[in-house]
Amino acid sequence: MSGLTSMDVLVSLSKRRGFVFQSSEIYGGTGSVWDYGPLGVELKNNIKRVWWRDFVQARADMVGIDASILMHPMVWKASGHLDHFTDPMVDCRECKHRFRADHVDTLPWTHYCPATKGNKFTIPAGEPCGHCGQRRTLCPECGKGELTAPRQFNLMFKTFMGPVEEDAAVTYLRPETAQAMFVNFDNVLQSMRLRLPFGIAQAGRSFRNEITPGNFIFRTREFEQMEIEFFVNPNDRVDGRPADEYWHDRWIEDCMAWFKRYGLAAENLRLREHERDELAHYAKRTVDIEYKFPIGWSELMGIANRTDFDLKQHAKWSGKSLTYFDDERKEHVVPFVVEPAAGVDRALLAFMADAYREEEVRGEKRVLLKLHPELAPLKVAVLPLLKKRDDIVRTAHTIRADLARHWRVVYDDTAAIGRLYRRQDEVGTPYCVTVDVQTVGDRERGEAGDSRVTIRDRDSMEQMRVPIAELGAVFRELLDGAPWSRVSGRYPAPTAKASGP
Ligand code: GAP
Repeated sequence: MSGLTSMDVLVSLSKRRGFVFQSSEIYGGTGSVWDYGPLGVELKNNIKRVWWRDFVQARADMVGIDASILMHPMVWKASGHLDHFTDPMVDCRECKHRFRADHVDTLPWTHYCPATKGNKFTIPAGEPCGHCGQRRTLCPECGKGELTAPRQFNLMFKTFMGPVEEDAAVTYLRPETAQAMFVNFDNVLQSMRLRLPFGIAQAGRSFRNEITPGNFIFRTREFEQMEIEFFVNPNDRVDGRPADEYWHDRWIEDCMAWFKRYGLAAENLRLREHERDELAHYAKRTVDIEYKFPIGWSELMGIANRTDFDLKQHAKWSGKSLTYFDDERKEHVVPFVVEPAAGVDRALLAFMADAYREEEVRGEKRVLLKLHPELAPLKVAVLPLLKKRDDIVRTAHTIRADLARHWRVVYDDTAAIGRLYRRQDEVGTPYCVTVDVQTVGDRERGEAGDSRVTIRDRDSMEQMRVPIAELGAVFRELLDGAPWSRVSGRYPAPTAKASGP
């Protein structure tokens, strides 16, 4: 289980340690967009990298694209976003606060209770007042204003292409990366000579003018998605089932397994089938993978069966044929599409929340991000035991530079060794390398160094002495997933003198 009960702990760690900052903070910030700091960008890049490697590079039936954010405005007419990509919005007539109509009863609400001479209470979401028994009818924020009737609000950001601000130049920032895969379907099919089933993947930014963004990076107005459009022949059957239904279930399983593989605990993940009335306008069936975030169970990603809706719509509005020629049946078909759509920011939030631990070590609190080594922003920290010894510092810098040719590795000498270890634990660095007197020797005493350094494992805090010349090979093994116990069995533990606290 994640050690986290509150999002505030994660927000504070993220700011303190350079993962995520509030955007434009010096101007008062905005709650709806966030900036990734030096460690956040590494973590985010690692998530995208392993997603791309596992779902694109490793598969023979996948290719990728990187399309532009600004697309032809007709794309959004054809896709249905102009007409349907709306949320119901209500306003408070008193304080002017805006809410998504379907979110109002998921918020704690302010109540001036008539049974207690109008005392003000904050009542948990969806519950009645414990004194007067009333349920919320007014604005949850101020507790005084009536709410307007719901109005539909389009979530797309409108902008103008070119120097003239006139209706003809109106376009939109893409609200999903998916549409580029549909409008490029034929380009990709022809240029890559693909056969069904195959998928097109893309990771990139999307924008939604959310009515109520919030909960840190969970719901923002600018975010990144990792999406796959997996095209199948609707006339095919796999294992006795229609191909689209078979592949939908396969992708649900594969995505679930992927999140578990990179560290999310099984008990914090679940599937949720969309009810008929909540299905998006394009979907035949959608299943969400939900994660138990600090705010409760919420959507981490969605896997939809979009049928042939998008290709047919784009063919209709563009006048271009978007079909596949089925050689066996000698006929043109419009493929069905299964769409695994994940949010990078939400994945990052889930990985951080799940990795967060607080432990007691020798009477002191140790905060630990038990991130999967492939996701960890820093793989190794090289630490000199004595920063006043030139030879120790020089050796540590050389080791950092050598290892940094392969991984993100840092050098730090700004505190005593115990504190340096804790700092690396808190940001999830799986291994620390300590250079000490025993490594370089003591010339004044005539003692030669052993050219070995101490490697410390983040999770077990165990240590081993490894020759500097073998560091590259040892980290290749460890960072490739070899268990610590297997590698450490080959090397001695350090003596107390060399190991540091
Ligand atoms: N093409 C389908 C599509 O975009 P979606 O369920 O709207 O489906 C997919 O979005 C994923 O993108 C979500 O599961 C979530 O992880 C992420 N996402 C969507 N809106 C977001 C927002 N406002 N802020 C952060 N992530 C968001």
